[in-house]
Amino acid sequence: MYNNHYIFSDHAPRFAVIVAIFTALIVFPAVIKAEGISQGAMLANSCAGCHGTDGKSPGSIPSIAGKTPQFIQEALMGFRDGSRPSTVMGRHANGYSDEEIKLIADFFSTSK
Ligand code: HEC
Repeated sequence: MYNNHYIFSDHAPRFAVIVAIFTALIVFPAVIKAEGISQGAMLANSCAGCHGTDGKSPGSIPSIAGKTPQFIQEALMGFRDGSRPSTVMGRHANGYSDEEIKLIADFFSTSK
């Protein structure tokens, strides 16, 4: 007979465990990294329509790329609570939690 019984041999379970461990080692950090990128970038997507891709505005709306995270965070929180005068940003900033504002601020402050 052919050596079909190999997959049921004593070596097979150990081989499967090794493959599983290596797969986990390779895939797990990649998943964490992808989530880290996507959350800030996804939230920042809704700003691109006005402030330009990555916060580089092509028009009269201020660019926000490369500003400090403190500036962006304070601006958004000020817009949100009305202490910073705005035309549209007050309404826009209203939809974000403190945590989301931090992610957005980090994203734009690191884009060049
Ligand atoms: C509908 C267009 C629009 C969208 C969408 C928008 N903005 Fe704005 N943003 C503006 C305008 C216009 C101003 C100037 C202040 C005002 O009139 O509201 C501004 C001002 C700002 C400022 C202050 C800049 C400065 O130099 O004073 C920051 C920071 C900012 N926006 C961040 C964001 C972020 C972050 C998002 C996405 C969560 C966003 N904006 C989405 C139009 C927009």
